[in-house]
Amino acid sequence: MSQSPKVSVVEFDVKTMGDVTGRLAVIVSPEGDLDPGARSANRLCKGALARMVEGEGLKKAKAGDVVSLSWPAGLAAKALDVVVLPKKATQEQLRSAGARLAACAGEETVTFMAGSLPNVEDLALGFALRSYSFDDHKSADAATLPDLVIAHKKPETLEAAIATTLALAEGVHMTRDLVSEPANVLTTTEFANRLVEMQDLGLEVEVLDEDQLEELGMRTLLSVGQGSDSPSKVVVMQWNGGTKGDAPLALVGKGVVFDTGGISLKPAGGMEDMTMDMGGAGTVAGTMRTLALRKAKANVVGLVGIVENMPSGNAIRPGDVVKSMKGDTVEIINTDAEGRLVLCDVLWYAQERFEPAGVIDLATLTGAIIIGLGHENAGVFSNDDTICNHFLAAAAAEGEGAWRMPLGAAYDKKLKSPIADMKNIGGRPAGSITAAQFLQRFIKDGVPWIHLDIAGVASVASGTPFAPKGSTGWGVLALSRLVQDQYEAE
Ligand code: BES
Ligand code: MN
Ligand code: ZN
Repeated sequence: MSQSPKVSVVEFDVKTMGDVTGRLAVIVSPEGDLDPGARSANRLCKGALARMVEGEGLKKAKAGDVVSLSWPAGLAAKALDVVVLPKKATQEQLRSAGARLAACAGEETVTFMAGSLPNVEDLALGFALRSYSFDDHKSADAATLPDLVIAHKKPETLEAAIATTLALAEGVHMTRDLVSEPANVLTTTEFANRLVEMQDLGLEVEVLDEDQLEELGMRTLLSVGQGSDSPSKVVVMQWNGGTKGDAPLALVGKGVVFDTGGISLKPAGGMEDMTMDMGGAGTVAGTMRTLALRKAKANVVGLVGIVENMPSGNAIRPGDVVKSMKGDTVEIINTDAEGRLVLCDVLWYAQERFEPAGVIDLATLTGAIIIGLGHENAGVFSNDDTICNHFLAAAAAEGEGAWRMPLGAAYDKKLKSPIADMKNIGGRPAGSITAAQFLQRFIKDGVPWIHLDIAGVASVASGTPFAPKGSTGWGVLALSRLVQDQYEAE
């Protein structure tokens, strides 16, 4: 599995700067002012840094950018990275600078002369998020990720903040690993096993097998998995860091390890991308990991429905009617609209068992959300303005795109079935909304709920500032912040 990069903190000491190998990074303000570390570096390289700054080397740079000088004379380092930051840098500028340092580092260790820069952990987070590569299945050419050494005047004050930062990065990296993993490796059983391993972090993890799911009446979930040789599972992960007895926040994830579409088979082109159809469950898992690592003072329960959607002689057919755990019956029109069938049972189970203070589900649910919002925003659906606005604020603060979509009775009507309580699809128009309406039928009155359709944001075809192309880990940062801002005890 991929490793989060090592971030260490040492005492700021300009005397040893000339001997630093790898890459040396120093701070220059957008106006071109050299901070103490940069001034020392400038002396060692006989004024080359000042000449670059004065010679318009930073002309096009803005706060958060990095400009590099290669093979600077007078330094042992291979490169001098000039980090453009004002004295009072924002979180965004610091994260962006960290990500850029990581992106240009290659495999070299970066020693960052932070001096007395405040909130340097934000820069470390940007660095850690960007240093990711999924190379587990390459026999050669696996990338070595760069490490970050932060030279700071008060190293001891940074420890706690850096640990929190690394908890976030580790959660994001776990989500990315799970989403990147091919379906022959990340089978339903392997997925559950990886979640059970998180018991070591203090999470309480239970795996419900097919017999138990049958007993609970989760027929819609089981019907999706019945065409696969891999057994369906529901995994429950509890983090009880809050006040004993306080209702938890429930995070529910779609974990379809591979979505062929079933009997309503998908076209061959691009089907390989459906290894990411467990992205919702992957995000729930990564978030639970982060919460445990940073010992969040909140009660949060993560529940994931893990299945594989395959065509076989035993698979569900269009026209079949199945009964959900809630008791409502569903006419299957299209076996490729399987995510909602998995989620509706897990949502119902989550509410029956935990009486949660709120429910947030995440799912790579519809192709239609990609048509509507592209890869820049997840679709946000909610029955409650308060929890919804809290989430949108958390997502905005973390730079994770999220856009609210409507719900309403007119959309819900599209799910009417002539022979059962509802159909599993509502037609092509507003496909993401009718999918959300389907889910809302399984939310009890008065339970604040958010549905996040992450089909467009869970995996991207070109790199972003904070992730190489592929799985992004979208949502871990926003959910962790939401928990911190709204659910953690003072
Ligand atoms: N897993 C897909 C949605 C998806 C599409 C995720 C592209 C990521 C990228 C989902 O199960 C699905 O197949 N949805 C159908 C629903 C339709 C049959 C109503 C879709 O979007 O086409
Ligand atoms: Mn599908
Ligand atoms: Zn799917």
